[in-house]
Amino acid sequence: MTAAVWGWSDRLSTKYEAMDETHQEFVSLCAALSEDHPDSFLDRLDALISHTVVHFEQEGQWMREHSFPPAGCHQKEHDVVLQLMREVRLRIADGDLDLGPRLAEELPHWFEHHVDTMDNMLARFMTSLTADQTAAPTASIV
Ligand SMILES: [Fe+2]
Ligand SMILES: [Fe+2]
Repeated sequence: MTAAVWGWSDRLSTKYEAMDETHQEFVSLCAALSEDHPDSFLDRLDALISHTVVHFEQEGQWMREHSFPPAGCHQKEHDVVLQLMREVRLRIADGDLDLGPRLAEELPHWFEHHVDTMDNMLARFMTSLTADQTAAPTASIV
């Protein structure tokens, strides 16, 4: 029996196009960690970490630009998971190879929860601001 491969689905969509495009890339790079080629695991993890730095910086920029109220909480989740990825990378490089499959198994759970909470909240917040700016003015000057 083959384990189901994790991948993108509408269930992960925030309906904020730029964010979804970045998330599709994250999902693809994250799913690639499950490939059974131990020799290239660190290369795939490096690709995921490089993506994640840019991914989180983009969301950080959006949060600053829009004064997103729970920015600190969201940023903290980013910092913790990125730090974890970097620590796991160091430990695998030191020979703790069992950590690779564990990271590949845990990251999708983390990401789904993060999208359901922090990223969806940010996407809805940005969408509501855009809607406010494009709404037709209702007051008239007499
Ligand atoms: Fe994200
Ligand atoms: Fe996020």
